[in-house]
Amino acid sequence: MSNLNAIRERIDIVELIGESVKLRRSGRGYSGFCPFHPNEKTPSFYVWADTQRWRCFGACNTGGDVFEFVTRRQGLSFSEVVQQLAKRAGVELAPPNPRAAQESAVQDRLRTVLAAAANFYHNALLNSAAARSVREYLEGRGVTPATQQRFVLGYAPDSWDAGLKFFRESGYAIEDLAAAGLVNQTDEGPPRDRFRNRLMFPIRDRDGRTVGFGARALNPADNPKYLNSPQTELFTKGALLYGLDFARKAVLEQREAVLVEGYMDVIGAHQAGFVNVVSPMGTALSDRQLQLVRSGNPRIVLALDADAAGGQAVLRSLNVAREDGDREETPAFDPRGLVRNEARLKLDIRVAALPAGMDPDELIAKDPANWRAIVANAQPVVDFVMSTLAAGRDLKSAKVKAELSDALLPIIQDVSHPTERGAYIQKLARLLQVDERTLVQAASPRQLRPRPSTPATAPAAESATSSLNALETHCLAALVNAPALLALVNRQLRELELQLPVLGRNDFAETQYSLVFGQLSAALEQLDQEPLDYLNAQIEPALAETLQALLEHGRKMASPEERVQRDLVDSAVRLRQRTIRQRLTELQFIAEQDGAAPDVGAQNPEHDAGALTGGLQRIQRYLAPVSRRDKISGAL
Ligand code: UTP
Ligand code: MN
Repeated sequence: MSNLNAIRERIDIVELIGESVKLRRSGRGYSGFCPFHPNEKTPSFYVWADTQRWRCFGACNTGGDVFEFVTRRQGLSFSEVVQQLAKRAGVELAPPNPRAAQESAVQDRLRTVLAAAANFYHNALLNSAAARSVREYLEGRGVTPATQQRFVLGYAPDSWDAGLKFFRESGYAIEDLAAAGLVNQTDEGPPRDRFRNRLMFPIRDRDGRTVGFGARALNPADNPKYLNSPQTELFTKGALLYGLDFARKAVLEQREAVLVEGYMDVIGAHQAGFVNVVSPMGTALSDRQLQLVRSGNPRIVLALDADAAGGQAVLRSLNVAREDGDREETPAFDPRGLVRNEARLKLDIRVAALPAGMDPDELIAKDPANWRAIVANAQPVVDFVMSTLAAGRDLKSAKVKAELSDALLPIIQDVSHPTERGAYIQKLARLLQVDERTLVQAASPRQLRPRPSTPATAPAAESATSSLNALETHCLAALVNAPALLALVNRQLRELELQLPVLGRNDFAETQYSLVFGQLSAALEQLDQEPLDYLNAQIEPALAETLQALLEHGRKMASPEERVQRDLVDSAVRLRQRTIRQRLTELQFIAEQDGAAPDVGAQNPEHDAGALTGGLQRIQRYLAPVSRRDKISGAL
């Protein structure tokens, strides 16, 4: 973790932010327009060279260090940011273990092979005589040469070894070709090209590196219609979104990601200028795919085939399949899964129904304005399923009523917010004209399970926390070990009547702590898993070590339960005291600058110096007896 400090020391935050935000010297800091919310007239965004921190005093009220800035700005994961900034700082990150180092060397080799392959197929498409009909096919479907180039579309020759020969001549080892999924090796017979006589779609990760291929049959007799790369070291279909490398920026800016079924749909959308469109490539939307687009909390719109996904028959058969425990078939549309993901990831997921029998690809080419309207009118998942299932049914029939409530109640039950859940039950009761209480009984929320037990995990090296802020460590260690205690902390903070009533990510200056705390809050807001199980399952690999160290640290803390609770609340209040002091110092910087200081207090009550000072006094009064108590017992 001292890696992070080394990086922080070698990067000048003013310089880094200055590359993408126009900064003006003002007083002891720098100011500019906040890049994270629509610009107003006053520059509300401040950067301080001495503390190497930034903060927006305007509408979005965000702030942090250099890691936090890059995370927000580029929508990257924490580990990606660390890697990127390490490179910039010239800090060599020690690979966590030798096996990981070996793995990343293999991955680098596979990436090189795959990039060469994409080139080979692309050249074949552009130049080979055999690909003439393919070029005509693409032209017929309206894919311009510029788009073909942008998506590096290609042609795999109709041969068992054309690719193989080329790759071997270019010096690639057969083992690497097989590991990259380009060549099939069998016990009997020579190795063979996996992709033959197909239109090739390179699939890239969100950084634009080719990790696999989707390959469309050109001969209608060939099966399957799309042959994808097999699972490899780099390629897991359910962990990738086609088009994300091009869509990422637009998704962040527009705060909306539109998901379509297939490759051609993405290509058609992008060509028409709808660049926030990606595809899960025909599979049911996975948790990992949603994780890829969730930064910045965009609205997720699923643009589904009216017949294929929304159709009543499909929905009904899905329910049956699930009850039979039949996991063979991946459903393309799983409303329950979506609602659960929505709760877990705190996303706004909507469904847009396309006109029957039309792919986004065709629709966009024919009527882009209609596409725009359909996406804008996307409905929340539950509403969508409700209206789809009810369409054309005889709602007066008792059988239909039973069938619909059986299908819809489980989905409604998965809605995490109680008020929202209640509203849906009401809506369903009205739709079916049945007594709401009957439905409520059928849909009573799952019982909350008892307190989390401490998981049996291997103790982690002490070093993961030792260099970090002790107060933050203390507070967070207590919280991860007993997440429910956060309510106690927040009750105390509320009693102190501070501007911000609850403990927040901003109270933790250590970025990795701030992120762990964010995950902890998310864990407390979902109902599917014990908070600790959820936390362990969802934590980013780069933060796992920190979490383990915190758990370990917490377990070693003073044991009488009451004592732990008092310590926790006190240290949380101290954290808040520090946050307010820091905020006041920042405000003072602004006040000291010459010229007109923006009236930041008026924009946001959290930046009202008078109110902040009042809160600080209440905190001091609260802490005074605590300090005495501490002196007496000599603890903390
Ligand atoms: P579609 O059959 O709807 O194909 O499958 P498409 O994208 O509309 O292609 P065109 O317009 O007929 O050329 C939708 C997506 O499902 C995945 C692919 O990602 C495809 O784009 N799929 C489909 C497969 O992975 N394998 C298949 O055999 C079929
Ligand atoms: Mn299509």
